[in-house]
Amino acid sequence: MIHLNPRIERLQPYPFERLAALVSDLEPPRDRPLLRLSIGEPEHPPPSALVETLRAAADRLGRYPTARGEPELRTACASWATRRFGLEAHPLDPERHVLPVCGTREGLFSIVQALVDPGDARALVVMPNPFYQIYEGAALLAGAAPYHINEEARRGYQPDWRAVPDDVWARCRLLLVCSPANPTGITHDLETYRFLLEKSDRYGFPIVADECYSEIYFSAAPPLGLLEAALRLGRDDYHGLLVVHSLSKRSSVPGLRSGFIAGDPALIAPLGRYRTYHGVAMPPPLQAASTFAWSDEEHVRENRALYREKFALLAKRIGSRTEVRLPEGGFYFWWRVAGDAEEITRALYREEHLLVLPGSYLSRPTPTGDPGVGHLRVSLVSDLARTRDLAERLSRFLEHHPEWTTNARAA
Ligand SMILES: Cc1ncc(COP(=O)(O)O)c(C=O)c1O
Repeated sequence: MIHLNPRIERLQPYPFERLAALVSDLEPPRDRPLLRLSIGEPEHPPPSALVETLRAAADRLGRYPTARGEPELRTACASWATRRFGLEAHPLDPERHVLPVCGTREGLFSIVQALVDPGDARALVVMPNPFYQIYEGAALLAGAAPYHINEEARRGYQPDWRAVPDDVWARCRLLLVCSPANPTGITHDLETYRFLLEKSDRYGFPIVADECYSEIYFSAAPPLGLLEAALRLGRDDYHGLLVVHSLSKRSSVPGLRSGFIAGDPALIAPLGRYRTYHGVAMPPPLQAASTFAWSDEEHVRENRALYREKFALLAKRIGSRTEVRLPEGGFYFWWRVAGDAEEITRALYREEHLLVLPGSYLSRPTPTGDPGVGHLRVSLVSDLARTRDLAERLSRFLEHHPEWTTNARAA
């Protein structure tokens, strides 16, 4: 018998596998094109200058890239984050504070593998619930147990950090937060970060903030970042803290696979070492395109405006039948439905050829309930014309199903 890594068996089926099985027996209306709203893959056109930069750099394939990336890319990342989060008092140093990654999915996974002690049988990785699925898989493969903090409707989806028992903090080896959050759209404020930083100091665990949606927001003030919070709370370094940023959402280039990690040099250094051996390095043409994308804000403003317009359009069309909550950040309509979310998912596919994701596919049951139940995640990733079509189809669907319109039920 061949012995394999038993941790692989502990990985859960990915949500999209479950979704495919859920609708596999259905015959959708062929006269309506499929709108795939289940996955957070932006369909906005990427900035043309980025694509041109990528093409122009195609001849740079003759060298092996280093895990640390070219200095130009690290400088662009460090300057952007310093500007965006007002870190001028302690600017990020491209040499010490920044590490490019091939997408934050891989970056987040690497962080957990590199920083959590695999020999610690009691290790917990604390994370939100519902959550981006990589958090859990990364924890399990690192030999740690995931510990979920619920984001529930009754608390406006804000996690109840104060209810986390001390023995959980004592076993916590890494805290993952997501702000703005996928899928609930909440953000963390300064007081939340004050509380979490105190726990991190007291119990000695790093905090990793997944901020890949930080540039998709709708209020005048952009969402607070973790490094920014640290400085505002009077710290003069980024001790124990990492943030993770991506071009996938900001610049609508999920296929570029480009992001970066920034924060405490004492965490960046071992992470860099791990990644050298792991063998992930961004190809040079992608580094050139990424350097452009982190240096240009015009395309990001346009992108943000388009998301704002799409949420407004949806709210206008279906807001009288169901609540369309504008997220604090990100592009997910986290829809609280008045019925069984899997049943509604099936009906949306069968009747309207719309593919959405049941919220419980992104969450786990806990002793106090499963916060994903009763929700659907609708990714507003299509262009404007298709989003108009989506709003029409949802409106018609809700008209045919008054039993699933939250407002009707409340009346
Ligand atoms: C919360 C969150 N983090 C990270 C990622 C990964 O993004 P990427 O690997 O494209 O940077 C996603 C993608 O959907 C996400 O929703």
